[in-house]
Amino acid sequence: MARPHIEPFVELNDDYKNFSLPGFAAHSHYKVLSLDVDTGACTLKMRFDAGYSRKPGMSYADVEIFVLTGTMKVGEQICGEGHYLFVPAGYALGAIDVPEGCEALVMYNDSEPSFVESDTHHALCLKEGFVSTNAYEDAPWAVANLVTPSVASGCMIKVLHYDVLSEALSFIYCMTPQFAQDNISYHDCCEESYHIWGTSWMMQFGDLPTGGYFWRPPYIDHGAFRSKFGTIAFGRTDSKLHNYFHFNPWSNPDENRLRAAAQVYRQRPELYQWIASDGHNHPHGPPDFEHKHYHDNPQIQGFHAQHHHGHDHDH
Ligand SMILES: [Fe+2]
Repeated sequence: MARPHIEPFVELNDDYKNFSLPGFAAHSHYKVLSLDVDTGACTLKMRFDAGYSRKPGMSYADVEIFVLTGTMKVGEQICGEGHYLFVPAGYALGAIDVPEGCEALVMYNDSEPSFVESDTHHALCLKEGFVSTNAYEDAPWAVANLVTPSVASGCMIKVLHYDVLSEALSFIYCMTPQFAQDNISYHDCCEESYHIWGTSWMMQFGDLPTGGYFWRPPYIDHGAFRSKFGTIAFGRTDSKLHNYFHFNPWSNPDENRLRAAAQVYRQRPELYQWIASDGHNHPHGPPDFEHKHYHDNPQIQGFHAQHHHGHDHDH
């Protein structure tokens, strides 16, 4: 069971809870924004009180951290507002100190939150995947038509993490004041967003204000969009972001998936025939002479298992 659709969810008025998991020191608190109840993978909003500290250590999941308010010291790095970390599973992150309090989005991508004290990386850690950057200061805004067909002009993006195998993206994005897009979109990927500031409106879900969040499974209609005063938000996909656009407010996820498959049928007939024919059903994915070991990639395994689960319910 993958994470359920949650949209819109506004977390600002909910209370933080105290951690009771081993390895999570006092002075840290959490709210669950989304959760996969089978794997424990989750997106949390966390608060670290003044005086929080943690020894160097690793997690068994890929972890992403986005600092919303305050400052967190990670090893020698001062991580202020807008700092983003991608910490591969098994990566020994430096000691964390929070002298004056801090709030952050913290995402455990593969399993429940875990912490093991260590000052050396795990032998199997894919440590070259580590990312540390300030999204506000260290990256330029790009027009969002790096994905085509594109959202309307007035939506800008800074890509913070890109998985070369799955094309999963982590990014911040903004909408200009008076942003408007009149069509309806859906994707093949899961899509997640947290509104750092500002309110946008969607035809299906109404206003998503500051503190608003969604986890949206594939093929769910969203849009038209408007934003009166603009927004800035943190977003992610779990695989390739392709925009399917249309103007039918009544289509459902099954119809949207069929319409996506019809595009493959029309535009890549050879591939469609091969996938649809018997005897080519590779449970772990077809061989790829360029990426021989992609079957072992935990992120590919993780989200693929989730997506397959979703299909089982439909057929
Ligand atoms: Fe979308």
